[in-house]
Amino acid sequence: MSKERSEILMEYLVTRGFIWPSFEIYRSMVEVGGFYDYGPLGVELKRNIIEKWRRVFIYPYQDIIYEIETPIIMPEIVFQASGHLEHFTDYIVECLKCGRKYRADHLVEEELKKRGINIRTEGLSERDIEKLIIEHGIRCPQCGGELSKVYRFNLLFRTTIGPYSNNVGYIRPETAQGMFVSFPRVFDLAGRKLPFGIAQIGKVGRNEISPRQGLIRLREFSQMEIELFFDPKNPTCPFLDDVRDVTVRVVTEDEVKKAIEEGRDPVPIELKPKDIIERRIVPNEWMAFYMALAVVYLNELGIPVDHQYFLAKLPEERAHYAACAFDQMVYSERFGWIEVSGLAYRTDYDLSRHEKFSGRELRAERTLEKPIEVETVRVYPNPQKIREVYGDKAREVMKLIASIDEENARRLASGESIKLGDYVISPEMVFIKVEKRKITREKFVPHVVEPSFGIDRIVYVTLEHAFTLVDGDKILLKLPPDIAPIKVAVLPLVRKEPLVSIGVKIARELYRKGLKVLYDDDGSIGTRYSRCDELGIPIAITVDDRTVEDNTVTLRDRDTKMQVRAKISDVYNIVRSVIEDRKNLLNLGKELGLELVERA
Ligand code: GLY
Repeated sequence: MSKERSEILMEYLVTRGFIWPSFEIYRSMVEVGGFYDYGPLGVELKRNIIEKWRRVFIYPYQDIIYEIETPIIMPEIVFQASGHLEHFTDYIVECLKCGRKYRADHLVEEELKKRGINIRTEGLSERDIEKLIIEHGIRCPQCGGELSKVYRFNLLFRTTIGPYSNNVGYIRPETAQGMFVSFPRVFDLAGRKLPFGIAQIGKVGRNEISPRQGLIRLREFSQMEIELFFDPKNPTCPFLDDVRDVTVRVVTEDEVKKAIEEGRDPVPIELKPKDIIERRIVPNEWMAFYMALAVVYLNELGIPVDHQYFLAKLPEERAHYAACAFDQMVYSERFGWIEVSGLAYRTDYDLSRHEKFSGRELRAERTLEKPIEVETVRVYPNPQKIREVYGDKAREVMKLIASIDEENARRLASGESIKLGDYVISPEMVFIKVEKRKITREKFVPHVVEPSFGIDRIVYVTLEHAFTLVDGDKILLKLPPDIAPIKVAVLPLVRKEPLVSIGVKIARELYRKGLKVLYDDDGSIGTRYSRCDELGIPIAITVDDRTVEDNTVTLRDRDTKMQVRAKISDVYNIVRSVIEDRKNLLNLGKELGLELVERA
């Protein structure tokens, strides 16, 4: 997108009330980049984009996917367990003269690009980045000062919970952890059957070092995520047929490595989900399924397949929890290729860590192919010995021994003493019985595939793809009708009675039916049609003199400007067919035998 075009788009988004930078009135006083407000049109668009995601990812699979909502602030232990306290960091570098701080890897890439050197910093260590800074003599771009050593900066927003300064909490950096922590409850509700998924849509926070790319890098943003839990011994996805014919463009791990070696951009190959699985580009069927579904989703938002591809992440580029990961990239005229979703195979990493940190079992069960014989150790209290040692506390000790776990029972059986609460239990205090049992079921920690979408980036690329300049400067926002913020406009041809009253009545009836409607009787009809095109309103209903005679109105198609004439009583059903069933207004008009109107 030329500078001018991208500027027109940004100005348009702000003035029309889609988005604007937050805290505008204080921007000159404090550094608060990376926060955006959604205005009335932005809220509607975002809501529709989210609802479309539910229609693609949740509703058709509602027998296995359960949507929940968990808190944005979570206690410290959650992020100790998840690994975010240790690993969720970016590299930072500071100017030793003016004190400005920069994201070190981005600074190096940008400064070298200015010198015609293209370099990938993803996956480099802080020492590697520091070496590049020294080798190329990179200095502070603002004041020319010398730069500090490169160090790690944790992106979690820290707070305290309640009035206790030692009760530390963090804003979640991904909705995922709420789903892992709630796993046992949702799994029980779902009947403890796999495959099974939890979905969540909500806000997250990342304390980015220096966000400067509008909606593309925010400190507070929204995600739509699914954690799909499956048995690693049965990783079959039963829904592959739904996406059989979807073409997915993929850059494999091998291609990424080759492209780096050869100093060129990686080239995607076009594959069907079946090929992706057969060629072992992904480690399980769920990854291929979610890749294809993500392509379908973005395509329904108006992003063509050749403006998307999945980019494999090399081991050193992956998040700490991922054994395999792909970024879904979308082409933006303004920003180049940007990541709008991530697909990760998180294995049993998160549930195992939360099991360890919480002490709660986070497992499913499977039937063994062949029953196996196992030895179980049981221990029973020896009251006499316990009384000799613990006197009147003996009852309490016996109770503790009654609920002893397998590991402690084995330690006692091997002659070790153990500690239960405040009491040391020696082998003489128990009777030990070793039993052999046939086992037909075994417990295991489910594995996880996670598709994770950043909503705000998707809002941006959707708008950019819909934004069209006609005849040089006329704006036409060609949003798919089902995600358009305003679904229909009602326009009396001229501001006179009874056209105005009829128009107001039609608009009110459509409001009541739950549609977002613009009523407008101000200015010439041509100017009002242009306004509708600018706001992306798919259908404009015009009330004219003939309406008074025969109760018909015209319905204008935003993209072709053609119109059909229909009875007022049929308007709602026609609008619904265009909006919800994605029918073309003119084809529908032909099907229904409606009169085509010549007026442009
Ligand atoms: N849940 C993956 C991410 O937020 O990056």
